Amino acid sequence: MTLFDQALEILQTPGATDKAQLGLKAYSDWQNKILSSFPEIIPSVPMRPARADKPVLLPPGQMPKRRLGSVEGRATLLHAIAHIELNAIDLAFDMICRFGPDIPAEDQPQFLSDWVRVGGEEAKHFTLLSDRLIELGMPYGSLPAHDGLWEAAEKTADHVLARLAIAPLVLEARGLDVTPQMIQKLTSVGDQTSAALLQIIYDEEIGHVGIGATWFRHICATMGRDSDATFAHFVSERFPGGLKKPFNHDARQAAGLERHFYETLTS
Ligand SMILES: [Fe+2]
Ligand SMILES: [Fe+2]
Repeated sequence: MTLFDQALEILQTPGATDKAQLGLKAYSDWQNKILSSFPEIIPSVPMRPARADKPVLLPPGQMPKRRLGSVEGRATLLHAIAHIELNAIDLAFDMICRFGPDIPAEDQPQFLSDWVRVGGEEAKHFTLLSDRLIELGMPYGSLPAHDGLWEAAEKTADHVLARLAIAPLVLEARGLDVTPQMIQKLTSVGDQTSAALLQIIYDEEIGHVGIGATWFRHICATMGRDSDATFAHFVSERFPGGLKKPFNHDARQAAGLERHFYETLTS
């Protein structure tokens, strides 16, 4: 078995719980060194990962509102984040399948190790939230979700630097900006349990943005491109709305993102 085959199987698995379990298994199998990297012949990678019938996908503007004072409100917030984590599992394993084979051979082992770690941690994040949603009586799939994250993936499927710019360095970095406030609000309404889960996720997401930043810079360097200019180029081309303030400069700095890299790219 290769890591590529396991990653492709994860993309092709519709059930969210099954997808997350396979993500955890791929990470532990890779750490236990029982997987090789790629098969002899690389199969084509689907543009969209398989998904279950639930949750129903709605346009972002039609999503239910979140009032955190009630259990339903907290579940609505956690459901939206669980859906992001499910997409993040697919994004990490899509990185391996879609872009891994073209990474120079000397860089492939580290590339695979980094992205299977991200995929394993996303699977853990999904599982934590899914378990919590069950406790709150509103399991994953019982509310609608939106498809914005996978639309961003499709828009960046043609270029590894476009994908790295938009998925980890715009969208996951945005998660670092907004999560501390969510933790604070959950704490203020007395839901320490959910707040603690978001704290675990937040701490690991700093690592994901860091992995994205490292690979973005490294691939820019191997292609002889300036990383600041390349990031600005792909943000304006693939994320024309621009970046949203306010930024969490401390978390971004901890992930290796300097202010000059992103601060001028606001909407
Ligand atoms: Fe995550
Ligand atoms: Fe992540």
